[in-house]
Amino acid sequence: MLSQEFINEVKERNDITDVIGGYVNLKRSGRNSKGLCPFHSEKTPSFTVYTDTASFYCFGCQTGGDVIGFIRKIENLDYVEAVKFLANRAGIAVPEEGKNDGLSHMRMRIREQNREAGRFFYRSLYSPAGKNALEYFRSRGLTDDTIRRFGLGWSPDGWDMLVRHLGELGYKRDEILAADLGYTSRKGGIIDRFRNRVMFPIIDLQGNVVAFGGRKFTDDVSGGKYVNTSDTLIYRKTNNLFAMNMAKNSKSRELILCEGYMDVIALHQAGFSNAVAALGTAVTPQQARIIHKYADRVILSQDGDEAGQKSIARSIPIMNDEGLDVRVLEITGAKDPDEFIKKYGPERFKMLLDGCSNDIEYSIMRIGSKYDVSTDDGRLHYLREVCEYLGGLGNLEREVYAARIADKLRVEKNAVLSQAEASARRRKKSEMEKDFREMAKTTAGIGNKINPERSVKLRASNAEYALLAILFNHQDMIPKAAQELPPSDFVTDFGKRIYSAFIELNQSGQEVSVSLLSQQFSDEETSEIVKIINSEKSVGTNDYDNFIEIIRKEHFTPDPREAAKLSSEELLAQMYRMKKEKK
Ligand code: UTP
Ligand code: MN
Repeated sequence: MLSQEFINEVKERNDITDVIGGYVNLKRSGRNSKGLCPFHSEKTPSFTVYTDTASFYCFGCQTGGDVIGFIRKIENLDYVEAVKFLANRAGIAVPEEGKNDGLSHMRMRIREQNREAGRFFYRSLYSPAGKNALEYFRSRGLTDDTIRRFGLGWSPDGWDMLVRHLGELGYKRDEILAADLGYTSRKGGIIDRFRNRVMFPIIDLQGNVVAFGGRKFTDDVSGGKYVNTSDTLIYRKTNNLFAMNMAKNSKSRELILCEGYMDVIALHQAGFSNAVAALGTAVTPQQARIIHKYADRVILSQDGDEAGQKSIARSIPIMNDEGLDVRVLEITGAKDPDEFIKKYGPERFKMLLDGCSNDIEYSIMRIGSKYDVSTDDGRLHYLREVCEYLGGLGNLEREVYAARIADKLRVEKNAVLSQAEASARRRKKSEMEKDFREMAKTTAGIGNKINPERSVKLRASNAEYALLAILFNHQDMIPKAAQELPPSDFVTDFGKRIYSAFIELNQSGQEVSVSLLSQQFSDEETSEIVKIINSEKSVGTNDYDNFIEIIRKEHFTPDPREAAKLSSEELLAQMYRMKKEKK
């Protein structure tokens, strides 16, 4: 356990604006700074860093917290690791630990089990029973060397082969479940997560096996094509890329992003050691960030089918937001890179890579393929859609591509450009409206999962939030508030919990901080608290009495939902009477 004093020191020595500024391009605005949120994809900044409360909050994705919370999220670390990370950053020595705390111990146990499981699957592949699985890999053209380098394997055909093996090695049931290598059966026993599948280990950047994908290779009807490890304490699907541990060593600053495990492996075997795959559908902003650490250019190499094209369309803006140069590989004559290389060889694939179009050319081409531009009607519709698309580009690019399109269609460049500019203006306006709606939505508390009572008790909840904001920013007032208004007088449950936490921390002589609160509230709740303490900060302390008064009064007002229930019953009764009268 790290002491609270140590944590406090780490926080003091890591200015939140400095730390976040290392990840996000922040612009000062008054005491605070704003930038594009690193946790979701956006075009207009809704991510704010607050100097006074040493916290951050994004109005777009409602994520917030203190500097430790930020590092936890962006570096995918647990609390203790994040504190240590920041300690290192500030050059503070981490005190010797007497004992591991529970969570990091469990993470270690999960890591060990995954390593054991990887060995077990590999051994099984080369055992007599693994003959068919090995045969499958060979039929797909994989060499023994490739199998070894990727650590591929086979999960034996049985119910609890791995689970028993792990048990013999001393791993407990809850540890196996935490690693997601087994799951609880209906009868209450524990069953292997992966049974009779060819196995692909997923390895993190430090070289640890953190998860598996298991592919069906027989005609067996049970289960999906792939079974994958779900998120665990050491693995998040959205924060990992398959084969990134290998591709990061390639010198090219260019990565090939494929759809499947098999594509990546085939590419590596053919000499393209910079191939990786997102684990699942479109790339996530976190994956784009990881990619950007090792590359400046990404070549999207998805399957040629509809799903592949969709995933390209969704990935392009995310890559662009990250500042990556995006290219799109078009595979013709084969369904995916794996098949292409088998059919035409690596040289032809290299030619594809060299000749691939950039994301804008690709998108324009996709629009073009929908219309027949040899007819007037087709040209008109094509122009309309392509101008709409150009409206989303930067000024310079819009000019360049408007000129190209005008050239191709033999129309005036200005005609194309003015339409495209009109679209740009429309977009800008609708983006602003959307931001505004989102803002209004979060303030009104509609869809607020964290505090579900807020939407029906808005007045009370607003007063609670305002009072909490005052108290956080003027902590000397907490004892007085505790005297005048016991927590039980709070109306919403969430407000009550925060208020109680304020009072408890204050009474134990500690300063109420986002860090301390984050230790007793969930991530989502912490985010909401950060929003509360920052958003109402403009209110002066002279409204204090007012808010206390409102909360007290609202406490004794009946729940409007109860009232609504009553009236709908009355309504039913009335309808019933009317029906009767008609008869
Ligand atoms: P594919 O179906 O293209 O699989 O899905 P593949 O790995 O290329 O396999 P082959 O070429 O048919 O042998 C692409 C990726 O989508 C994920 C896997 O990561 C897979 O590699 N996926 C697919 C799943 O997670 N579950 C599924 O059921 C299907
Ligand atoms: Mn495939």
